[in-house]
Amino acid sequence: MDYKIALLPGDGIGPEVTEAAVKIIDLVANKFNVQVSYKNFDIGGVCYEKHNTPLIEETLEGCYNADAVFLGAVGGPKWENLPHHNKPEAALLKLREKLELFANIRPASVYPSMLDNSTLKREVLEGTEFIVLRELTGGIYFGKPRGIDEEKGWNTMVYSTEEVERIAVKAFEMAMKRDKVVTSVDKANVLEVSQFWRNVVERVHKDFPSIKLNHMYVDNAAMQIVRDPKQFDVILTSNIFGDIISDISGMITGSLGMLPSASIGNKYSLYEPVHGSAPDIAGQNKANPIAAISSAAMMFNHSFDMAKAAEIIEKGITKTLDAGYRTVDIAGDESKIVTTTELTSMISENIVKIFTEEAIGVFLL
Ligand code: IPM
Ligand code: MN
Repeated sequence: MDYKIALLPGDGIGPEVTEAAVKIIDLVANKFNVQVSYKNFDIGGVCYEKHNTPLIEETLEGCYNADAVFLGAVGGPKWENLPHHNKPEAALLKLREKLELFANIRPASVYPSMLDNSTLKREVLEGTEFIVLRELTGGIYFGKPRGIDEEKGWNTMVYSTEEVERIAVKAFEMAMKRDKVVTSVDKANVLEVSQFWRNVVERVHKDFPSIKLNHMYVDNAAMQIVRDPKQFDVILTSNIFGDIISDISGMITGSLGMLPSASIGNKYSLYEPVHGSAPDIAGQNKANPIAAISSAAMMFNHSFDMAKAAEIIEKGITKTLDAGYRTVDIAGDESKIVTTTELTSMISENIVKIFTEEAIGVFLL
């Protein structure tokens, strides 16, 4: 096997965390005897500086030709005042649209040794393990008409049957492999588009009778996630609600620096840490590489069908955190503070150890 990966490091800490992910991808691919090759492409603010636009055709082509895309981060204060279509964020939205990455998976679970890192209590968090499945190419982010003039600004929240169906199918399929509960989050008491969403989700549900389907209004869902996160398995929701809900869920892990994501379509897929470009710490070897490394694990799982590789990466992260090593963003009183590159090296060493142990395990059998 030879997998082609398009790397889009982007802005701020993007290049540093991408480098960390590449180091782990190389190690694990090598252990599993698969070939990987990389090509780098410009995106975001750095791309704007070079080409006067945050996304160039060459980058899109590179993504079309790859088996998977890895993105670091985009954005920064330098480009905040540019017109909408030239902002680094616009590149990300364009990429999602062009690659038709309609399903965004953001897991919310907590590494055992991080249980005291969250602002939520240990008892509330323990055992939490859900995923937010966010619709990513429709809804108010892309609906027309949209615009702004002197007197008003306007956007449109619209969903078609096909758009709701395909994300709902994904949610039920994911729940089949998990605890078999889907919570569809909407605002059907106020919005017609949400009532429509609910109707379609119920229709799709008929094909998955073994799944329990709950509906929840988004304001209540926001509250329930911090009140009792254990109740959730798969949260299915629209683009804007998923944006908000997934940041709230981010605090389950203790820090946005821990949250990975996968954006999947029928043809392409893109992996990125949920955190932003953190320009304040860029270039200082301080960034937390865990979200990026965990996103690489998702790449092995979803794009290369190598669930075992993903599992070993996650174990490597767990083992490193268990030993008390932390980047500054997640450091507690007892932690040993390390740099991005140090934490990455420790994770790789632990992955190597896990390989050895598991190989010995197989041998003993
Ligand atoms: C995210 C981000 C993006 C979004 C921005 C950067 C466009 O917040 O991936 O959650 O709103 O989708
Ligand atoms: Mn967001």
